[in-house]
Amino acid sequence: ATPTDPYDVVVIGAGPGGYVAAIKAGQLGLKTACIDKRGPPGGTCLNVGCIPSKSMLNNSHIYHQTQHDLQRRGIDVSGVSLNLPQMLKAKEQSVTGLTNGIEFLFKQNKVDYFKGAASFVSPTQIAVKLNDGSENSLETKSVIIATGSEVAPFPGGGIQIDEEQIVSSTGALSLPEVPEKMVVIGGGVIGLELGSVWSRLGAEVTVVEYLGAIGGAGIDEEVAKQFQRLLTKQGVKFKTNTKVLSADKENGKVIIKTEAAKGGKEESFEADVVLVAVGRRPYVEGLNLEAIGVELDPKGRIIIDDQFNTSIPNIKCIGDVTFGPMLAHKAEEEGIAAVEFMKTGHGHVNYNAIPSVVYTHPEVAWVGKTEQELKAAGVQYSIGKFSFTANSRAKTNLDTDGFVKIITEKETDRILGVHIIGPNAGEMISEGVLAIEYGASAEDIARTTHAHPTLSEAFKEAAMAAFGKPIHM
Ligand code: FAD
Ligand code: NAI
Repeated sequence: ATPTDPYDVVVIGAGPGGYVAAIKAGQLGLKTACIDKRGPPGGTCLNVGCIPSKSMLNNSHIYHQTQHDLQRRGIDVSGVSLNLPQMLKAKEQSVTGLTNGIEFLFKQNKVDYFKGAASFVSPTQIAVKLNDGSENSLETKSVIIATGSEVAPFPGGGIQIDEEQIVSSTGALSLPEVPEKMVVIGGGVIGLELGSVWSRLGAEVTVVEYLGAIGGAGIDEEVAKQFQRLLTKQGVKFKTNTKVLSADKENGKVIIKTEAAKGGKEESFEADVVLVAVGRRPYVEGLNLEAIGVELDPKGRIIIDDQFNTSIPNIKCIGDVTFGPMLAHKAEEEGIAAVEFMKTGHGHVNYNAIPSVVYTHPEVAWVGKTEQELKAAGVQYSIGKFSFTANSRAKTNLDTDGFVKIITEKETDRILGVHIIGPNAGEMISEGVLAIEYGASAEDIARTTHAHPTLSEAFKEAAMAAFGKPIHM
């Protein structure tokens, strides 16, 4: 390809979906450009999502553990104090290191990166308003839309986010001081992760959740109950079955009004900071999709077929802006598969094997079906459960809260779902993902050697329990 040739593919958005698609396209020899108006690549995930939240979760956990959990381990410390500006700086450094890394990978894979806002002129021409004020126009044979998602506003417009006192996840990742009282609206993934962060750093945190259980969509009921119990033990307060009606600023505080989810009992309480975490929605603003006829569904998601094609033949779409769970690894898998479909006609994403992880302590992770889903579908199943209290490594680590639960098809012993609450659940779930991807049975896992002493022996023993009997329980 010469510089004047059209691109083979232009990727709009450099989040985990877009940047991975662009790198893959470069690797497969396609002439590739990627455009993002944020400036630094990495999208929501690297800039204001996965990465900064995990930095804050890790460091707030170390702080909290240093304060409350060292003495019984024979470590006496004194004078422990929080240096929040430094903690925020460490978070920024992780983000910058990783986003710079992506720019380097773009260069290495011959991806032209444009920092600016993209807008369709036609299905093969994209206008770019560059962040430096200039304009550009790219000709391309095909396009991948990967514009991601944005914070869903509070329904009815009753709560205005100012990112200082009434914050979304973005503001909650950069609070300049620890609030005395924090109210979190929504007990889903963001609410629990960021609620945990500020609770560990000293805030009195109350999570208000509309549903009867916390954890968001797809969590197993038994896990959700245990999860709530453990977070409550850590000091987080919960008001479930409660609907937030409004949050208004008054004399330096925020007054939150709620009612029982079923209607009736109204309550009002105050907070210094309110985190609104009631979900995210697809983002297509400024793309000018109307002009070229890319179709959306009633929820605002770009409609695609099973090869990521939109309603316009040369335009594909991946990640948060289309169907499926809003997760970085899901967007990445789709990015690779979409490019492979483009180049070779074949691509692979197994939507039954996409793990979910909540990075609290303990972590919560799952993949595949929940018990409730299988019951509703009339599937006959068996359950194998193993508690970390009976796992030698968890015991030596003094970190025994939680369990591994493996659900199998009764007749065939095939693993249908894995649900873990416990130390390192987010790493351990990969074994469950692999098992489901390869159609493994519980017996396959039960007969596989797991190193001793490791937490993953709890996984093996849960499989033994599903298939026969565990040894240590
Ligand atoms: P995005 O990452 O949203 O990227 C889209 C990009 O497109 C943006 O950078 C945007 O600037 C750009 N863009 C949009 N329109 C245009 C345009 N017209 N022109 C140019 N550029 C444009 N997921 C996980 O799997 N694990 C986690 O631990 C996790 N933690 C999270 C924590 C928080 C606080 C949040 C908010 C989210 C978290 N997520 C996590 C979700 C994850 O961030 C998203 O699923 C992921 O970023 C989606 O990737 P994407 O590529 O589809 O879109
Ligand atoms: P969510 O959908 O996970 O949770 C929102 C919660 O708010 C739900 O439980 C809902 O019942 C509740 N809610 C809605 N309206 C309410 C009201 N008026 N009053 C009280 N409760 C109300 O959405 P969240 O937490 O905002 O996260 C968005 C997405 O970001 C997640 O679904 C996930 O895809 C992604 N994410 C992933 C992370 C991870 O993988 N570890 C971490 C953070 C975000």
